[in-house]
Amino acid sequence: MSKNILILAGDGIGPEVMAQVKRIINWMNAKGLTDFTVSEDLVGGAAYDVHGTPLADATMAKAMDADAVLLGAVGGPKWDNLDFSVKPERGLLRLRKDMELFANLRPAIVFDALADASSLKLDVVKGLDIMIVRELTGGVYFGEPRGIETLPNGERRGINTQVYTTSEILRVAEVAFDLARKRGSKVHSVEKANVMESGLLWREEVQKLHDAKFADVHLEHMYADNCAMQLVRTPRQFDVIVTDNLFGDILSDCAAMLTGSLGMLPSASLGADLGGGKRRAMYEPVHGSAPDISGQDKANPLACVLSYSMMLRYSFDMAKAADMVDAAVQNVLGKGIRTGDIMADGCTLVGCTGMGDALLAELETLA
Ligand code: IPM
Ligand code: MG
Repeated sequence: MSKNILILAGDGIGPEVMAQVKRIINWMNAKGLTDFTVSEDLVGGAAYDVHGTPLADATMAKAMDADAVLLGAVGGPKWDNLDFSVKPERGLLRLRKDMELFANLRPAIVFDALADASSLKLDVVKGLDIMIVRELTGGVYFGEPRGIETLPNGERRGINTQVYTTSEILRVAEVAFDLARKRGSKVHSVEKANVMESGLLWREEVQKLHDAKFADVHLEHMYADNCAMQLVRTPRQFDVIVTDNLFGDILSDCAAMLTGSLGMLPSASLGADLGGGKRRAMYEPVHGSAPDISGQDKANPLACVLSYSMMLRYSFDMAKAADMVDAAVQNVLGKGIRTGDIMADGCTLVGCTGMGDALLAELETLA
């Protein structure tokens, strides 16, 4: 049965990297490996320029109906001075919030061919395979009250609120424990329970869930600052990390860089099980819109391609097709084909389209 995919390529390098994914989708459809119906719409600055809002209601409705959403990137200097309420990023945040995509999976994997690209020593990162599970619809990103106010004495005050409820903590922790069971069976739960009540609640609830349902999984609690330090000291101690929205944002950039480039990191954002095998989901590269290189055919499309493979795996249970995409990426890297961000001595430099060409050629041989 045909599945509906909504593509929101967004701004900056978003459309360029997504163009390579579309080539792969078309190829897989033509081979009969998939049966995807693709529609496209605007998000971020691109949507603002046309609709005066970073996400039109009609686009939001399409996203709610889609079997999966693939997103490129949002933002850029052109829209930096817009009011907060219509910034490109608000489009992305609305998608996450309205689709209730509370669990954001950000794998940080060091490909053998790229182990040299890391700024850390080879023996520290070789074989690294971490899964960060970031809470995505709560915490300080959405907490109320928020805003900037002027005090009676004329001073201004900026306010954001960090807030978590039991159910918000439990549902994301459950995803992390489930994943750990299929991997290394270890979860690090990360917060600042030493200074924040919301962090203390996080720690207590995760521990309770562990004891009640996941006692077979090894659980450790860690403060977020220590986790940042441990990630660059001995990153291989981690298997699954579960943490809140803001810490997850920061720690996932840090973990991403262990792999050599932000251009390699995919992500999946999953909502609750809606029954009948359906669950809302959005897939996007962790990197941003990279305005400095956009429009120059220099972007690395691999994070977006790997996000598509996560979509095959997590939304449609198509492990074979996903493995094929992952293998194509591995093999192309193994042949020394590189975009600028992961370029190394003796390798062949290609652009975004060139990387797409190489992937398609590789898929042909794998098929
Ligand atoms: C991310 C990004 C977003 C975030 C921005 C673009 C709103 O940094 O997905 O990590 O902060 O969540
Ligand atoms: Mg981020």
